[in-house]
Amino acid sequence: MEPGLAPGRSTLGERTWPAKTVGTPVLARGMGMQDDSGMTTSVRGVIARAKGEPVEVTTVLVPDPGPGEARVRVQACGVCHTDLHYREGGIGEDFPYLLGHEAAGVVDAVGAGVTGVAPGDFVILNWRAVCGQCRACKRGRPWYCFATHNAAQKMTLEDGTPLSPALGIGAFAEQTLVAAGQCTKVDPAVPPEVAGLLGCGVMAGLGAAINTGGVTRGDSVAVIGCGGVGDAAVLGAYLAGAHTIIAVDVDPRKLEWARQFGATHVINSREADRSAAAARSSPPGTATACQNATSPCSRGST
Ligand SMILES: NC(=O)c1ccc[n+]([C@@H]2O[C@H](COP(=O)([O-])OP(=O)(O)OC[C@H]3O[C@@H](n4cnc5c(N)ncnc54)[C@H](O)[C@@H]3O)[C@@H](O)[C@H]2O)c1
Ligand SMILES: [Zn+2]
Ligand SMILES: [Zn+2]
Repeated sequence: MEPGLAPGRSTLGERTWPAKTVGTPVLARGMGMQDDSGMTTSVRGVIARAKGEPVEVTTVLVPDPGPGEARVRVQACGVCHTDLHYREGGIGEDFPYLLGHEAAGVVDAVGAGVTGVAPGDFVILNWRAVCGQCRACKRGRPWYCFATHNAAQKMTLEDGTPLSPALGIGAFAEQTLVAAGQCTKVDPAVPPEVAGLLGCGVMAGLGAAINTGGVTRGDSVAVIGCGGVGDAAVLGAYLAGAHTIIAVDVDPRKLEWARQFGATHVINSREADRSAAAARSSPPGTATACQNATSPCSRGST
């Protein structure tokens, strides 16, 4: 992935470049303008206006992309539990939030200086663009990047109220504005509802099992909470060659799905003492637990 230019780091000075676009977006001149070209795209999006209140579908104004930014036509967005945490005030108090962050879509327009993606590219959205320039990036460890960024411009409500996009994405909307480096180009043959899951749940769950948990061949693993992240952790443990994979949940449907992803044992913790049951199911040796029933995105799920 080639990160786009960081907003404010363009060498293009004050010069205003028109965004490269594809298709015919619904353009609303003169509405809530914040961008250089004075144009915004009016779309429908799902916002959380205040803590604990029902979410609502409303009009969102998306600025034309400025330097280093991309506007993406969202094709699919998963419902990650973290969106619920946002609504409940568990992530912050920066309401209103534009929810949604587990998405894939097609780049609609890019701003000046963007070379990594172009209009028409099919992309997965990721939380933050790495800079590609800092010491961590130069050492090949972009996950420790000191200067990650999101879009510099704000999407707004029709009255100009700035929105806080969930995890810097805000993809429960027909279109969203991100830093171009948040777009990872992938094979357009993949259905968007599948590709989008890689942007959060799959990345978090597989990463928890394989990278953070370090599951290896022959290990015993317990995954507590088998939703989007948990099932990816089950799958990650399976791919890593774990011998015993114990899926724990309170919902029998989730336990059945966990079996399909590779769980060798399932425990409904409403019905069983899960510690005792897990101990009975687990052979002697390494035990890794992936707990993901409660911790929000970006705070770690293991
Ligand atoms: N760190 C990250 O990168 C990251 C990424 C995505 C999600 N998350 C967080 O991980 C958590 C799970 O997210 P998700 O999208 O998979 O949620 P989800 O709602 O799809 O899954 C949660 C699962 O936990 C189960 N559960 C609830 N209470 C339980 C209990 N007491 N014992 C066992 N199981 C229980 C539910 O039945 C459900 O199957 C959330 O807190 C989310 O915010 C973290
Ligand atoms: Zn998420
Ligand atoms: Zn960096």
